[in-house]
Amino acid sequence: MSGAAAREAAPGPSLTEIMDAARAAVEARLSAALDGLAPGRVRDAMGHALRGGKRIRGFLVMEGARLHGLGPERSAAAAAAVEALHAYSLVHDDLPCMDDDDLRRGAPTVHVAWDEATAVLAGDALQALAFEMLAGEDDPAVGAELCLTMARAAGASGMVLGQALDIAAETAAEPLDLPRIEALQAAKTGALIEWAGTAGARLARADPGPLRGYARALGLAFQIADDILDVEGDAAATGKRVGKDAEAGKATFVSLLGLDGARERASALMEEACGFLAPYGDEAAALHALAVHVVTRDR
Ligand code: IPE
Ligand code: IPE
Ligand code: MG
Ligand code: MG
Ligand code: MG
Repeated sequence: MSGAAAREAAPGPSLTEIMDAARAAVEARLSAALDGLAPGRVRDAMGHALRGGKRIRGFLVMEGARLHGLGPERSAAAAAAVEALHAYSLVHDDLPCMDDDDLRRGAPTVHVAWDEATAVLAGDALQALAFEMLAGEDDPAVGAELCLTMARAAGASGMVLGQALDIAAETAAEPLDLPRIEALQAAKTGALIEWAGTAGARLARADPGPLRGYARALGLAFQIADDILDVEGDAAATGKRVGKDAEAGKATFVSLLGLDGARERASALMEEACGFLAPYGDEAAALHALAVHVVTRDR
């Protein structure tokens, strides 16, 4: 029986079931980490920022690890770490000096529910927590590698660079062209998704190369879908305000190519991402389903 036929005969868990299991493992780690922190406003605000979320980055870590023979007990800490770093990026992204948003994950943003200083500090502490979680790896060489690569993905050549380009584009004299928008998005969103997609291989001390191409294309498709949802989505489903990018003058695929052009680009990137999974065969069915989900999601 071929691999595909065998899967049909005995269907495995659905993407939703696998993602639910990853979410539960990530959330258990995050709440244990929060329990270990000094009580107070900053810890409460961190808990608020961490709740909810689709946990796509955590899922990528755990699924990449599973493809390399590592179970949740080996991958959940790195998955929780990337979700802590991502939560920090959202808290700061929502600040009045950035995107000035009052709704996140279906609830008031941290600076609205608390105050700006608490939001800055909760973001700072979530970032520190991410590195603390990675540094706790049993194998110190693996922990160091994960910390180094996450620092690069998150920092001034990665996500922070992308956020700076995103803000600068709002007031740019000329609209950004396609390569510039792609570079902005690859840094702002892509760098962390690429880290998540390759972390499982790093945990297994395997070559992260094969999953890098998948994660790069997935990250771009993911941000295009986010930009489309800002136009077509609704706040009840996405848990955040919509219709804000055009108002703010953001440089997105939608602003440049229109909705249809952006949809086509996202779909081509989804195909490109899936092409990189060929070496893994049926074992990569969940990552394949994730790529489809990323460009068809409504939240
Ligand atoms: C939102 O990311 C920010 C972007 C990079 C577009 P997600 O859509 O993954 O947000 P959560 O984690 O599910 O809230
Ligand atoms: C945010 O991109 C990316 C990071 C937080 C690094 P967006 O500004 O488009 O994300 P949303 O739409 O507010 O979630
Ligand atoms: Mg933003
Ligand atoms: Mg934003
Ligand atoms: Mg957005």
